[in-house]
Amino acid sequence: MDHKVFIFAVSLLVAYLSCGEAPYLKMTNAVCKSYNKSWVVVHYCRLKAYSRAKTSLNINVTFVEPARNISVHFKTMKKANGYKPFLFDYTFDACEFMRRRNQPVAKIIWYMIRNVSTINHTCPYEGLQMLSDFHKVDIPVPLPSGDYLLMVDWLFDGKTQFATNVYFTFIEDLLPTSSKHRRGSKEFPVLRN
Ligand SMILES: *[C@@H]1O[C@H](CO)[C@@H](O)[C@H](O)[C@H]1NC(C)=O
Ligand SMILES: *[C@@H]1O[C@H](CO)[C@@H](O)[C@H](O)[C@H]1NC(C)=O
Ligand SMILES: *[C@@H]1O[C@H](CO)[C@@H](O)[C@H](O)[C@H]1NC(C)=O
Ligand SMILES: *[C@@H]1O[C@H](CO)[C@@H](O)[C@H](O)[C@H]1NC(C)=O
Ligand SMILES: *[C@@H]1O[C@H](CO)[C@@H](O)[C@H](O)[C@H]1NC(C)=O
Repeated sequence: MDHKVFIFAVSLLVAYLSCGEAPYLKMTNAVCKSYNKSWVVVHYCRLKAYSRAKTSLNINVTFVEPARNISVHFKTMKKANGYKPFLFDYTFDACEFMRRRNQPVAKIIWYMIRNVSTINHTCPYEGLQMLSDFHKVDIPVPLPSGDYLLMVDWLFDGKTQFATNVYFTFIEDLLPTSSKHRRGSKEFPVLRN
């Protein structure tokens, strides 16, 4: 993805947030699946109710063998007669990222989870991996209201080993009306790398 487009999107968000109230985001479902149980065992993948408007995400998986070559494919979908690709469809080398922090989009997501997950060191990854009580979600780009799905496929040695998919609802109603007009979904092509 073009860094300039990304930086532009972030500046836009900061501008909106500083003149409006924080938008509302609630995770509504989490689904994890292992495609290769001799490498990845999913023990736990659930939302916990935090308050009426907030949930926290909890994931607990074991990597049975060490993973030395990890890629992450993430894709955002928006609901409109079923879930359709929206905004991001993006793959990066996670081991390289943990060494060099060279992916601006991954960096934003990683900053949100680094203190509440085991994803805090360079490869290899082995044994129990967790995301605990994750609830501080900051959306890095301006989004129209709607139901979304963040699909994340985890590839080891180039093959998908497991998936972590999180559904969420986003409501931008709290933002000033003037800014809503400029934010229709037509302005958001899917950004691929
Ligand atoms: C499944 O996991 C094992 C390691 O436990 C690995 O050797 C094998 O290549 C994996 N299969 C696929 C299709 O990735
Ligand atoms: C992760 O899940 C496994 C299997 O359910 C459980 O034995 C283990 O205690 C869990 N670990 C944590 C820290 O929650
Ligand atoms: C995570 O921890 C670092 C270092 O302790 C701190 O600077 C940062 O603000 C924390 N991030 C979050 C999202 O809590
Ligand atoms: C990574 O996270 C684990 C578990 O939360 C923690 O014990 C460890 O100290 C952290 N390591 C680094 C380098 O922050
Ligand atoms: C990771 O595995 C894939 C598929 O086997 C391979 O194409 C790629 O070069 C590997 N990456 C590294 C850094 O070894």
